[in-house]
Amino acid sequence: MAQRHYKEALSNPIFRQVSLAAEQLSLECYVIGGFVRDFLLKRGQPVDIDFVAVGSGIDLARKVAASLPGKPKVSVFKNFGTAMIRYEDLQLEFVGARRESYNRDSRKPVVEDGSLEDDQKRRDFTINALALSLNPGNFGQLLDPFSGLEDLAEGIIRTPLEPQTTYSDDPLRMIRAIRFAAQLGFRIERESLNAIGAQHERIRIVSRERIVEELHKILMTDTPSVGLGLLHQTGLLAEFLPELVALQGIQEIEGQRHKDNFWHTLEVVDNISRHTDDLWLRWAALLHDIGKAPTKRFDPKLGWTFHNHELVGSRMVYRLFKRLRLPLNEKMKYVQKLVLMSSRPIVLANDFVTDSAVRRLVFDAGEDVEDLMTLCEADITTKNPKKQQRYLQNFALVREKMAEVEERDRIRNFQPPVSGETIMDTFGLKPSPQIGIIKEAIKEAILEGVIPNEAAAARTFMLGKGRELGLTPVENPADPKT
Ligand code: CTP
Repeated sequence: MAQRHYKEALSNPIFRQVSLAAEQLSLECYVIGGFVRDFLLKRGQPVDIDFVAVGSGIDLARKVAASLPGKPKVSVFKNFGTAMIRYEDLQLEFVGARRESYNRDSRKPVVEDGSLEDDQKRRDFTINALALSLNPGNFGQLLDPFSGLEDLAEGIIRTPLEPQTTYSDDPLRMIRAIRFAAQLGFRIERESLNAIGAQHERIRIVSRERIVEELHKILMTDTPSVGLGLLHQTGLLAEFLPELVALQGIQEIEGQRHKDNFWHTLEVVDNISRHTDDLWLRWAALLHDIGKAPTKRFDPKLGWTFHNHELVGSRMVYRLFKRLRLPLNEKMKYVQKLVLMSSRPIVLANDFVTDSAVRRLVFDAGEDVEDLMTLCEADITTKNPKKQQRYLQNFALVREKMAEVEERDRIRNFQPPVSGETIMDTFGLKPSPQIGIIKEAIKEAILEGVIPNEAAAARTFMLGKGRELGLTPVENPADPKT
């Protein structure tokens, strides 16, 4: 086969630098993996560059670092035989070429030194095994023993070795196959797909963190349903997101059917992905209906019901996040909140849209009200054009009212217009439950539209409420102004 050279891929001076260091150590050295693949696909700016040395990758990294301005630090991962340098905005990773065989029950490799081709063989996919030479004799030459270039051109995810071997070496590659297929719009070659289906259970030996990292990349693709659908089809999804898989299926009783909430969810995630790149909002879309599996009932009068599924679903979020080692911080609370509130706008839009209902929605959702609306609009998956039209119109009306009400009453970051201190001073009270009662009554009056969200109106209302409770204002309150 004709030799191909891609010197233009190596125009960054760092490559000459690495080449020189390798020469000084009398090592062969190559660029490999994602950098080469993405260069050939003309895909984005590289962040990571992987170098493979026939010999010690760690020695090479040290030599390279010593030759760079500022002598950047080398992070050495002795157990893996790898080293990393951060240089400018790049992450340079070095590894020695290996012939690896893996222990079947963990992914701890038993490493032996090997040739470039030995190393390429043990990589995940042919498109990730492409290497460019940094050696003086053939600088820029493509080394492609597994026809990765052809697979790149045809859009195929294929393993260099028998799929069983490649996936068994590191089961995370099963998810990576799907992630690359989803990101690049490639198809997974049939034997590979079958092998994933056959050994999906081996994903259990992979850490949650690594799984989640790949899952996030799938969630961040333009059409996440492609990757999520493949995860489901191969049995992988059930291994780490059984709550979602439990939504699949349509049941029929007495001629009444409910929709398939799994495929509906995937459609919602695709819809929302057209409007947001926020990972956590995409998570909220993915989980917004998980409470529907445990709450599903058939009522002879009402048909299928999912009573309280939002509350049940939002409670499930914690356990799911904990299990997947996702952060249990404000991101989780945000997802819980959106799941909990996910039906609010639609209930509102189904009804006559009143100002007070809109005020309550804005009050409860606070800063997240826009995201909630985005989620609810994405939730419209009806194929009935008339219904779709009606929902969208009602949501538009909700948004219009939200803007009006917000301008008038500033509910989004609601701060009580009369403080507890003022109430105490006005009526000469010590801390007592009456203060809470008056504060709550003022808030309710504002949300109901009885009074505007203004200090003067709130003060008058407070005096009235105080009278109702049998309180009298004192003569000279400490702070008569607020
Ligand atoms: N690799 C592998 N098996 C894995 C992970 C990685 O064989 N489970 C190899 C592949 O050759 C891959 C390279 O290591 O190209 C670098 O891995 P990584 O940085 O995770 O992926 P990239 O291919 O660089 O792609 P991306 O940046 O999109 O993650």
